[in-house]
Amino acid sequence: MYHLERKTLELQNYKEEICQVHHFEVGTLLHYNYPIKVFQVRSKLDLNVKKVIKAYYKDSNYDEKKIVKHFLSEVAVLATIHHPFIMSMDFMGSFPRYLAYVMPFYEDGTLTKVLPSMHQEMSDEYFVQLCAAVNYLHYKKVAHRDFKTDNILITDKKVLIADFGLSDILPTEDTMATKRKGTVVYMSPEQFLKRPFDPFKVSHFFLHF
Ligand SMILES: Nc1ncnc2c1ncn2[C@@H]1O[C@H](COP(=O)(O)OP(=O)(O)OP(=O)(O)O)[C@@H](O)[C@H]1O
Ligand SMILES: [Mg+2]
Repeated sequence: MYHLERKTLELQNYKEEICQVHHFEVGTLLHYNYPIKVFQVRSKLDLNVKKVIKAYYKDSNYDEKKIVKHFLSEVAVLATIHHPFIMSMDFMGSFPRYLAYVMPFYEDGTLTKVLPSMHQEMSDEYFVQLCAAVNYLHYKKVAHRDFKTDNILITDKKVLIADFGLSDILPTEDTMATKRKGTVVYMSPEQFLKRPFDPFKVSHFFLHF
């Protein structure tokens, strides 16, 4: 009960802070993966403007340095990439209790949601779009490191690669990685071999799904 009350209070605090600073009205909590919360919001100045806020919560039970590092690595990538099939960031902010960035709201949801009812033609189209986006990321030396259908948003018959929380910007195209990252069911086998692997080829593995 105490836990539930604390959670409700935290949520209320978020709503107040975000509203005050950005003139947003907070709607649904889309996702909660401690210490990250993803909210749908809309502008009080124009109720037709819908956005999403991804907030990294600074919790006393969690190493703050790690949260800041995680957040900065995500926004650093988002600030350098501009592509029609990759999620864009509108702006970011630092607040006393959390760090956050704002992005457009994609109403159709994730690839996970649309996949069961998808026709072959559409799936071929999305595959081509994903290949173009991955090719661009690799050209920018960005390894996403967490490709999965939950991290691909859909809007208006196009894909948008999202969630750069685990991604790396690497010095060269042949830089090897040693650290295993991502979501286990989507991870390529070489990440389990305990020896250096190509972090870009790991993305190609996801495209086989
Ligand atoms: N711009 C957006 N428009 C619509 N829904 C979104 C948007 N951004 C995120 N979401 C929803 O929120 C979920 C979580 O977002 P995101 O993957 O960025 O958070 P995360 O905490 O890093 O996730 P994970 O659980 O993969 O670590 C997405 O799977 C999607 O359902
Ligand atoms: Mg995600």
